[in-house]
Amino acid sequence: MKLEGKVALITGAGRGIGRAIALELAGEGADLVVADISQGPVDETRAEIEALGRKALALVGDVTSLESMEQVTAKALESFSRIDILVNNAGITKDNLFMRMSGDEWKAVMSVNLDGVFNSTRPVVKTMIKQRSGRIINISSVVGFSGNPGQVNYSSTKAALMGFTKSLARELGSRGVTCNAVAPGFIQTDMTDKLADEHKKALLSQIPLGRMGSAQDIAKAVSFLASDDAGYITGTVIHVNGGMY
Ligand SMILES: NC(=O)c1ccc[n+]([C@@H]2O[C@H](COP(=O)([O-])OP(=O)(O)OC[C@H]3O[C@@H](n4cnc5c(N)ncnc54)[C@H](O)[C@@H]3O)[C@@H](O)[C@H]2O)c1
Repeated sequence: MKLEGKVALITGAGRGIGRAIALELAGEGADLVVADISQGPVDETRAEIEALGRKALALVGDVTSLESMEQVTAKALESFSRIDILVNNAGITKDNLFMRMSGDEWKAVMSVNLDGVFNSTRPVVKTMIKQRSGRIINISSVVGFSGNPGQVNYSSTKAALMGFTKSLARELGSRGVTCNAVAPGFIQTDMTDKLADEHKKALLSQIPLGRMGSAQDIAKAVSFLASDDAGYITGTVIHVNGGMY
């Protein structure tokens, strides 16, 4: 097991990719703090982690609020006294063609996907610097690199995460803390279930490996970056997209 003795905090861990990451890290021996916007879904994630024999703390944590994420960090430290791995996974879409995109659709996506990463990382960094070790892993997206019609708001946040990742990696490298990103392609979750069948068919035709990815495909890359095996990797991105980009 690659992550025995480690403690990981994951945002948006109530379902989808966040839950899959939590279960993968637990399977590798980590104890987990799982946070999401409401309690019910993270309680389910916690039960699945405990069934794997690991400890888990399930908390409400709204990434749009710095205060909320400070509370999550404080509770995590109360229970586990350390945080080794932070996975910034919470994210939303509010798709619309740019000509029709409202200010509210723009701001909502900025607030969760970009402000959310600041709000979740800022409280944890002090602890990682004190520990002189840590792994920060941001969930970006293929569309932050390729662009996508209807997702000017979403792809802007996911591209911005790369600036965040590279700059923070430069600031924290000398303290033993790495910062990387994983950029998923087209992954089967609630987020993509809402796409029209025609849109899904068009996307599938662009994937050389000929299938949508699974949440576990993403979780495996996160688990690698979180492990000692990735100790000399920082400020970069792993693309997990079936060859789409
Ligand atoms: N599914 C894909 O194809 C795909 C592709 C590229 C990137 N991603 C990224 O992967 C991450 C996870 O996506 P997913 O497909 O599992 O989505 P999802 O919608 O299934 O899950 C997202 C989770 O984030 C939580 N969340 C939303 N707003 C929040 C807030 N303010 N505070 C805390 N939690 C909040 C939701 O409650 C939910 O549990 C996102 O960052 C997404 O942008 C997904």
